[in-house]
Amino acid sequence: MHINAHGGGILLHRGTYYWFGEHKTEGRGGNQAHVGVHCYSSKDLYNWKDEGIALKVSDDPESMIADGCILERPKVIYNPKTRKFVMWFHLEPKGKGYSGAMVGIAQASKVTGPFTFIRATRATPQMWPVDVKPFHKIPKEGEIWKDRANLSAGEHPDSVNTLGRDFLPGQHSRDMTLFVDDDGKAYHICSSESNSVIHIAELTDDFLDFSGKYVRAFVGDRMEAPAVFKKDGLYYFMGSECTGWRPNPAHAAVAPSIWGPWTQTGNPCVDADSETTYHSQSTFFLPVAGKEGAFIYMGDRWRPENAIDGRYIWLPVEFEEGRLILRWRDEWDLSVFDK
Ligand code: GAL
Repeated sequence: MHINAHGGGILLHRGTYYWFGEHKTEGRGGNQAHVGVHCYSSKDLYNWKDEGIALKVSDDPESMIADGCILERPKVIYNPKTRKFVMWFHLEPKGKGYSGAMVGIAQASKVTGPFTFIRATRATPQMWPVDVKPFHKIPKEGEIWKDRANLSAGEHPDSVNTLGRDFLPGQHSRDMTLFVDDDGKAYHICSSESNSVIHIAELTDDFLDFSGKYVRAFVGDRMEAPAVFKKDGLYYFMGSECTGWRPNPAHAAVAPSIWGPWTQTGNPCVDADSETTYHSQSTFFLPVAGKEGAFIYMGDRWRPENAIDGRYIWLPVEFEEGRLILRWRDEWDLSVFDK
């Protein structure tokens, strides 16, 4: 079976893995969403069952998730308090390129859906991060609000004050992921401020909104494709550089708290083709059920010219002196985690 669930994530629920991802179609146009979020299930990570479309795009051209919108990197988490499955994804309303920089939020009572679309929003509207600096709050007008892409060499990204610019409408959220901590708190982690800064934001108890607490991490480092996991009390982060569908070297980091401070540990890839993350871009770290400390790296191999032909690579996560490492393997199975 061909799995059509790109930019995805996997939820382990009651002993079954549920893989959610972008259903892509043929050709260049297949990079836009024409179907929705596809779900597959598995009990062992080897055999997969097609569970159909968990969230459908809308036939109503006025809908925020109209057929032809951009709907990327969907992630589903379970909320034990509300007993609902909550999905967040990167949403670009139809016909506006990537200028929307929004998240879409959907919810379902059953893990495989159908998910009901709730709303679209920018990240943390009218909320300042805990590490806000006084100058961020000084209103700026006109051309001072230039985009980060126009920064002159050596200019610090904060001099542009994209954070202040986007305070009212809300912060950019393009590539994103969700992370649920051991204490049940959930976080939205996204590429923000014109892809220059990663924002890490706590969600409300129902997982449907931002609580108001968030931090900026990797300021000015321009990272996308965030993926996060926790092992032995430490938080690990991996992201890519910003070259669209073309793969680039990954960056890893570690922190004692989700709020940081984050210490960068370099490119986790150590074998040939490390500079392209083995021709992939980070999507998700999957904790393996029943194997303490075992995580699988899931990376997309995009095929933008024929989107449906995109592939995945999965690699076991290794650690060396506290550093996240991904070694290339032509073939492997779950027994690597027993050694
Ligand atoms: C990538 C991003 C993908 C998609 C693509 C569009 O950098 O990770 O999710 O947005 O750009 O060019």
